Amino acid sequence: MGPNATQALGSDGEALPLSAGRASRVLLEASNIEKSYGATRVLRGVGFQVRAGEIHALLGGNGAGKSTLIRIITGLTSRDAGEIRFASLKPGRTSPVIAVVHQELALLPELSVAENIGIVHARNGLSASNIHAMRRVAIDALRLIDPATPEAFVDQPTRRLSLHEGQIVEIARALSTGAEVLLLDEPTANLTAGETGKLFAVLRRLAHAEGIGIVFVSHRMKEIRELCDVCTILRDGITVENATPLAALTDAAIVHQMGQPAHRSTAARSRAKAETVSRAAISLAGPDGASIELASGTILGLAGAPPGPIGLIAPLVGAGKGRDWQISLDGVQVKFASPTQAVRAGVGYVSGDRAAKGILSQLPIVDNVLAARRIRDRRRIVRGAEPHECADLVSALKLKARSIWDLPSSLSGGNQQKLLVARWLGLPLRMVVLEEPTRGVDIGTKRDIYDLVRQMADAGVTVVWWSTENVELLELCDRIFAFDTDGRPKGFLDADHFTEDGVAELTGMAA
Ligand SMILES: Nc1ncnc2c1ncn2[C@@H]1O[C@H](COP(=O)(O)OP(=O)(O)OP(=O)(O)O)[C@@H](O)[C@H]1O
Ligand SMILES: [Mg+2]
Repeated sequence: MGPNATQALGSDGEALPLSAGRASRVLLEASNIEKSYGATRVLRGVGFQVRAGEIHALLGGNGAGKSTLIRIITGLTSRDAGEIRFASLKPGRTSPVIAVVHQELALLPELSVAENIGIVHARNGLSASNIHAMRRVAIDALRLIDPATPEAFVDQPTRRLSLHEGQIVEIARALSTGAEVLLLDEPTANLTAGETGKLFAVLRRLAHAEGIGIVFVSHRMKEIRELCDVCTILRDGITVENATPLAALTDAAIVHQMGQPAHRSTAARSRAKAETVSRAAISLAGPDGASIELASGTILGLAGAPPGPIGLIAPLVGAGKGRDWQISLDGVQVKFASPTQAVRAGVGYVSGDRAAKGILSQLPIVDNVLAARRIRDRRRIVRGAEPHECADLVSALKLKARSIWDLPSSLSGGNQQKLLVARWLGLPLRMVVLEEPTRGVDIGTKRDIYDLVRQMADAGVTVVWWSTENVELLELCDRIFAFDTDGRPKGFLDADHFTEDGVAELTGMAA
């Protein structure tokens, strides 16, 4: 808890104005919050309150200030001005226990799953030496989300987990604290539809039956509608909607309030074009006789949770052994020994794990954006022309940065994601492999990325797009190849299955 997090609300909580239909107790109230980084004013008098029993969407475009506000509430970042007050539902307590799932995973890689979860219970007297109790707490927490979690799962070090498993561990850790306020900053970005559904059921029960206040950040409108009761919208550090019931806002109104351009309906690509492959530019042969033939310019969607899609992507981008799939480019079988080899063969890659495998955290934004060009061209750093080249790529994605000489850590999550995509724009690629490329990207910019990817495809680049957001796959891709939950290839979706239910059926994940 932060240094300023001690002042409690009055015992009746009535001193605060109540908005219609929201009569329950205020657990947290932030008012007039100000925060600047250098000359950039990130939060400009933000007000935000969370009530018991509500699921509160915190919305806004990339860089609007959502994560900064959450970090200020939890005391991780200091504020320049403003007040935060807390109240607890529990008698005798002045402030509630607050648990948070941050936008980027925060697990200690050498510790086990049990230890990573147990560590937050230290203040409740759970000793690190009591591994038995720690395992119990961890298993119980994980089984809240997935009752089938095997006991052995909690004994492995978290460095062995996939991004997706790490996300589940983070969420379980937050749930295990018995917090009265849960702050979840884009918790679903790495989850499958099935897991998201299970998580939502848990969150609904916690809020509506147990009175917990939940704050949920997401850029997926469908999820926001499905889960949340009210929303607060930030635009450039200002609160433009304050605890407004979601039922009172249309999607268009939300997008407008976020300051994003109105939804342009994009012409669907002709799927028929892709059905018959005249000349396969890329052939992939996988386990169980699976075969994927792609003409250049095809957008191939991969559906399903790890390990299936990962097993296909790894050999494509020179990351890992990939024993299972064999790749031929223009009829010639290839094996990439490293990502560098793949890049030089004209294969671009945006990793789903942007923190560990995408962002070059010690180098400024300009070097991050130009990294692929340098590898491909074996180019020396020529500072003269680079700012100009970088600026064009940055503006194509509306990447919000104070200066291209800043480190990527100064960017909001969604803007870091844009940086990874910008790296591959305008290169004469043969293929680009994208894992969750719109993860954390706001609604307006998602459309920009779809358009840019379509342009790449129209220019002949073959696109492989893995997403856990099925709606996105259906909207963008010419063909979709599905994997089941065990990672086995299930084949292409036929026309009848080109629906959310169809994807769910083939991947074995109930939507
Ligand atoms: N440590 C920092 N140094 C400089 N600027 C920062 C720092 N942290 C955040 N910012 C700036 O503050 C602004 C708000 O960032 P924040 O991460 O709160 O946005 P967000 O609403 O969470 O966006 P996203 O949806 O992309 O996650 C951004 O423009 C960002 O560049
Ligand atoms: Mg954020």
